[in-house]
Amino acid sequence: MEFRRRHLLGLADLEAAEIELILDQAERLKEISSRRIKKVPLLRGRTVVHFFVEPSTRTRLSFELAAKRLSADTVSLSASTSSLTKGETLIDTARNLEAMSPDVIVIRHACSGAPAMLSKVVQSSVINAGDGMHEHPTQGLLDLMTVKEQKGGKDGRIEGLSVSIIGDVAHSRVARSDIHGFTRLGCRVKVFGPATLMPMYVESLGVERAGSMAEAVEDADVIILLRMQRERLTEALIPSLREYAVEFGLNTARLEQAKPDVIIMHPGPLNRGVEITPEVADGPWSVILDQVENGVAVRMALLFLLLGEEES
Ligand code: CP
Repeated sequence: MEFRRRHLLGLADLEAAEIELILDQAERLKEISSRRIKKVPLLRGRTVVHFFVEPSTRTRLSFELAAKRLSADTVSLSASTSSLTKGETLIDTARNLEAMSPDVIVIRHACSGAPAMLSKVVQSSVINAGDGMHEHPTQGLLDLMTVKEQKGGKDGRIEGLSVSIIGDVAHSRVARSDIHGFTRLGCRVKVFGPATLMPMYVESLGVERAGSMAEAVEDADVIILLRMQRERLTEALIPSLREYAVEFGLNTARLEQAKPDVIIMHPGPLNRGVEITPEVADGPWSVILDQVENGVAVRMALLFLLLGEEES
């Protein structure tokens, strides 16, 4: 099967076979990052623009490393150092980027739908690196890759696994991409969080709503904790962060109710002591840094599939 898409805007519209194709490619490319010389010429002469209008550590660095490890030329643009600060519109900025002939524009933006809007006005491929409360598809892919590595059967299949997503589901683009990805690959997904941070009709996404923290933890093979997004003013929707930590935070006492081989995931950045205690974040269940490692491989795979395959 070939990957025939020009853009990656979300996991909602990807078929299971397309997701598997990206993950298989990521698995093949992952070993490049453990070589002494971490570079192959697959994207030599191609140009990737990283356009981050919201802060990022993991996504931005891993996209840049992924492109460099495939020998692409990379340039970066941040909101604070761009002419957006002088009132230039996003579309005008994109058209000006386009005039410099990039092959891919990787964009993170606080507005849901910004990458989709860009994809309609540029010829380059557009990759959504997180847009508002909509999707964070490469996070979803690296989460899937991590679960396949940790929990996949002999053929890497994760069908039938129970995945619990706990926290601020309403504002989380990670939750949305994870829900699409895990349900598409046949997992049973449960969500749990404060009622004020749960989307209405969440069941329409194909998930179950857990009735309690105990229920969300007890039968899970995978627990994904979501970050309390203080920048989206979510604190106004809960009594206090302290109370949130008591009711919805994951600590070692709660983990005693979980399956002994459960794995704990978090997209980062962590609010230690809020959604996750340091003992859990740094404990033997945690695969949080494996997620970060897989982020480079997944982004290499995606850049290669969008740009490089016909030339290899
Ligand atoms: N997981 C994630 O998107 O992290 P960053 O905001 O640091 O990129």
